[in-house]
Amino acid sequence: MTPQAFIDQIIPHKNPVKTGFGIAPVNIALSKYWGKRDVALNLPTNSSLSISLPGLGTQTHLTWLPTLGQDAISLNGQRLSSEHKFAKRLSAFLDFFRPNLAGHFQVITHNSVPTAAGLASSASGYAALVLALNDAFEWQLSLQQLSLLARLGSGSASRSLFPGFARWHKGKQDNGMDSYAEALPESWPEFCVGLLEIDIQEKPLGSTAGMQKTVETCEIYQAWPEKAEKDVNIIQKAIQNKDLTTLGETAENNALTMHATMISTWPPILYWQAESVAAMHQIWALRNQGHSVYFTMDAGPNLKLLFLETEKPALLQAFPNLKVIQPFKVI
Ligand code: DP6
Repeated sequence: MTPQAFIDQIIPHKNPVKTGFGIAPVNIALSKYWGKRDVALNLPTNSSLSISLPGLGTQTHLTWLPTLGQDAISLNGQRLSSEHKFAKRLSAFLDFFRPNLAGHFQVITHNSVPTAAGLASSASGYAALVLALNDAFEWQLSLQQLSLLARLGSGSASRSLFPGFARWHKGKQDNGMDSYAEALPESWPEFCVGLLEIDIQEKPLGSTAGMQKTVETCEIYQAWPEKAEKDVNIIQKAIQNKDLTTLGETAENNALTMHATMISTWPPILYWQAESVAAMHQIWALRNQGHSVYFTMDAGPNLKLLFLETEKPALLQAFPNLKVIQPFKVI
């Protein structure tokens, strides 16, 4: 099935009605998505499980304007040229939804996280865009259908439609209709994610290309899908049991295993910087002193720390720049 045929099965029509708005959080995978079994339909080799971070993410307004000769895309207050990488990818995604009318899309989008710095801005970006499309066309799609659409924009975006923990099922069907994310019901007010920014420069190699190279050249990659599937189940149980030790150990090991596949890709992919490794050692030293803290990392040099509220003072002392988010805490 082509992506266009896939999308045409989900959306009821292509008649824009009004300006649409969408807002979506970034999410951090505790068990990672790394590798596609179908590149065109963005079908993953394995399921994944994430936590969304409220207050960090993307807001997008989208309007169909009959007067425009090309898409007008602005990011954080700056109009992007149509040759800009971000604008090109977005326009290519919007191609699937164009009405048979004169005009183009105007997209005004704001990220509250650095774009392309391994803080999952493509996840919140495509989730917000799909919500804005749903609003502009008044489709009234379900979250499951929106998750299927967001997946086509960026795999991890399938999980950003939901607050809290979300599981993206890899699915079994070749047509991709069963590969969507769902929210997990659990709430965990003491659970904290700490963002440790090492470097917010744009990364040299994006996740899409990185995972493709890994699938193509990494000889140990074949062990990944089974391990990742197992980890998703372990982490889901740990969430149900509010067992931070199991969650943290599994998430940290899962991230390091994903990075091991990247490092053993050719040419090698190493997102870590010296400061990333120094931070890992500091976290392991804290653990040896009895602190319950773990980390995960995505396709970038930054670390995301996982811990409970009781450890917050010690961690802020160890990492004064740590940005702590409690996804379930009502303030
Ligand atoms: C390391 O969702 O950005 O963050 O589907 O090609 O857009 P595409 O990839 P993307 O990959 C995310 C990879 C990751 C792990 C994760 O979020 O699960």
